[in-house]
Amino acid sequence: MFRKDFVWGCASSAFQIEGAAHEGGKGDSIWDRFAAGEGNILNGDKPEPACDFYHRYPTDIALMKQVGIQAYRLSLSWPRILPDGIGRVNEEGLRFYDQVIDELLRNGIEPYITLYHWDYPQALQEMGGWLNEKSGDWFAEYAAVVSEHFSDRVRYFITFNEPQCFVGLSAIHQVHAPGIRLEQADIFRMIHHVLKAHGKAVIALRQHAKRAIQVGYAPTCGMAYPNTDSPADIKAARKALFTCPEEMDNWTWNVPWFSDPVFLGKYPEDGLRKYAQYLPVITDEDMELISQPLDFMGQNIYNGYAIAAGENGEPVYVERDAGHPQTGNMWPVTPKCFRWGLRFLYERYKLPIYVTENGICCKDVLQCDGRIHDSERIDFLNRYLYAMKQAMEDGADIRGYFEWTFTDNFEWNYGYRDRFGLVYVDFKTQRRYLKDSAYWYRDVIRSNGGSIRQPKEILFFHPEYKQMVWGGNRMRDVYGYDIPGDNTGEAWVISAHPHGDCVVNGGTYDGQKLSELWTNEPELFGHFPSDRFPMLVKVLDARYDLSIQVHPDDRYASEHENGSYGKTECWYILDCPEDATIILGHHARTREELCRMIDEKQWSDLIAEVPIRKGDFVQLDPGTVHVIKSNILILETEQNSDITYRVYDYDRLVDGKPRELHLDKCKDVITVPAKQDMVRSTSPTETVQELVSCDYYTVWKYVVNREMVIGQPHPFMIFSVVEGEGTVNGLAIQRGDHFLVPHGFGDMIFEGDMVLIASSPTRE
Ligand code: FCB
Repeated sequence: MFRKDFVWGCASSAFQIEGAAHEGGKGDSIWDRFAAGEGNILNGDKPEPACDFYHRYPTDIALMKQVGIQAYRLSLSWPRILPDGIGRVNEEGLRFYDQVIDELLRNGIEPYITLYHWDYPQALQEMGGWLNEKSGDWFAEYAAVVSEHFSDRVRYFITFNEPQCFVGLSAIHQVHAPGIRLEQADIFRMIHHVLKAHGKAVIALRQHAKRAIQVGYAPTCGMAYPNTDSPADIKAARKALFTCPEEMDNWTWNVPWFSDPVFLGKYPEDGLRKYAQYLPVITDEDMELISQPLDFMGQNIYNGYAIAAGENGEPVYVERDAGHPQTGNMWPVTPKCFRWGLRFLYERYKLPIYVTENGICCKDVLQCDGRIHDSERIDFLNRYLYAMKQAMEDGADIRGYFEWTFTDNFEWNYGYRDRFGLVYVDFKTQRRYLKDSAYWYRDVIRSNGGSIRQPKEILFFHPEYKQMVWGGNRMRDVYGYDIPGDNTGEAWVISAHPHGDCVVNGGTYDGQKLSELWTNEPELFGHFPSDRFPMLVKVLDARYDLSIQVHPDDRYASEHENGSYGKTECWYILDCPEDATIILGHHARTREELCRMIDEKQWSDLIAEVPIRKGDFVQLDPGTVHVIKSNILILETEQNSDITYRVYDYDRLVDGKPRELHLDKCKDVITVPAKQDMVRSTSPTETVQELVSCDYYTVWKYVVNREMVIGQPHPFMIFSVVEGEGTVNGLAIQRGDHFLVPHGFGDMIFEGDMVLIASSPTRE
């Protein structure tokens, strides 16, 4: 799945880890100034010494090696190298980074250098900063020094980190340095200068390189992803991701304004229209400069937002669910942003992608065993990396992943509140502790992604209800189902049939149809060898008798019903009156006799009636004449088929017309003579009973008293709680619940007092 040369890295930035702001001849950055300002940093936290990386880099690099980190994306502090931003080069600053780079290389870790991760030289800020016409030349001067000095050892360079943030969070929101509010026209001018500076830096990096180097860019943004996998939602999400915001209050938070110029050589048309009143003069030469060819595209991605297709297919933002998963700093957890965002970016910009940042802030604590068990971080990273793998399978060319970040560090205006590291830092003692996630990431790296797991959880579905002339409303009374009418004959509770394709209700796969899951996530079903989901489970409520009917087998259905499956089915009687009966089989001894009795409508002579009780079980092979009679509630497990041949429907009318009969087909498929003794009773107490095992499925009844462990060695399992309530692996379940347990789920621990009917498909 992952390329052999896939790069597993970590990312950081100078200001957030180094400390030593006034050591080694470093000049001030705007962040040094801003952080010193009253009230600018939460809790008055100070950016020094942060992780004291300036002095402790050998320890941290040794830890990186221990974790198996292959590449380290670090930023250089511009004012550490050029204390005034331009002019005099600080040799001591260069020496510090030489040592870091050499140490990385000695440990087999490839450095990726970001030129600018927000710590702008204060001296240049005082000359107007990015608003100064010359700011591009200043940046190019710095880029030239860096390339000249480091490119003998460093091969990968990134110009800017997240221009969306360093512009918007400062000039619009004033929560980042320098914290100066700008008018919109100035913000557009600033960005234009930043983009030109990017172009100039790319040229300078290449011009001064000692050997071939790879140059990229690392913008960010939330990623739009489709609300469902429908083509309309996918199209709408793609459109949303590349549309410029209309509202100006947070408009820099977008992809196209910052990436189209760089990768496509033009500002997005819709933005040019929407923002016309604010735009600076933009020339063709500017655009040529900005769109210097790049070797790769970096993208920092932390989360995204769901988009559905509204009227005319236009994108509509989907509100987040109440209580949706969030990180320690309240960012939403949305792995789909990787699956779709990466794919959309690759489609549009067509450059190899490195995820240059992704990670999660957790409320990590040093626990009483002296370790940090950050299972939320592991779960987050696993889900995102699995989604990244899906994007790669969909064709996105992704070359590397840089987890943010190695050590907990100074998280800008939030100070030390937000811990993003794989390594816990006790900021009081500067002691480091590898969190559980560091060991987990080590395994991911060692296995080149092989240890990343598909999210597997118990799947619930929205039932598909069917109104029937014979249906009733008991499912509402007995199970509390939200049935749509008082003639609800059937609830297809687990079905991928086109006549009722159940949608996942909640969890990772929320909103997806079972048929889509079957196609897109075959691993959930143990790669079961079938072109369609093989089973169908329904609850039937017969207020009145069903028609006298029969089902074909596979061979007959495939030939006469357009490739459909035949229908082998079985019933578990959920409830019925004391004296209930069903029709099962017939009395004809030969096919001639059968045909004659049908033609002469000798129903009462033809059909065989048998008594039935709650808890009985019936296996019906194709060709079995049957009728479910009134007041019986049944759980039906069957092949994924909807083919029924009616012999007689009591001359009932539906919408003023009798329902169609299929006499010829019935005469073809009814088994003669009929099979006997198809009803068996089941035990109310025996804990494990195999009710049937046929070519298509195996069905069990489990009686749970207090506790039962059920393994899951099957392609998948379907469970129905038919009595009682309790929990499965801590999840509360009750009578009337149906769920699917995916392949490889592991043991299920049921606790409570419950009766379960379970099934799994039979392999060929
Ligand atoms: C990104 C920044 C990085 C860090 C993470 C959490 O926006 O690039 O410095 O703050 O967020």
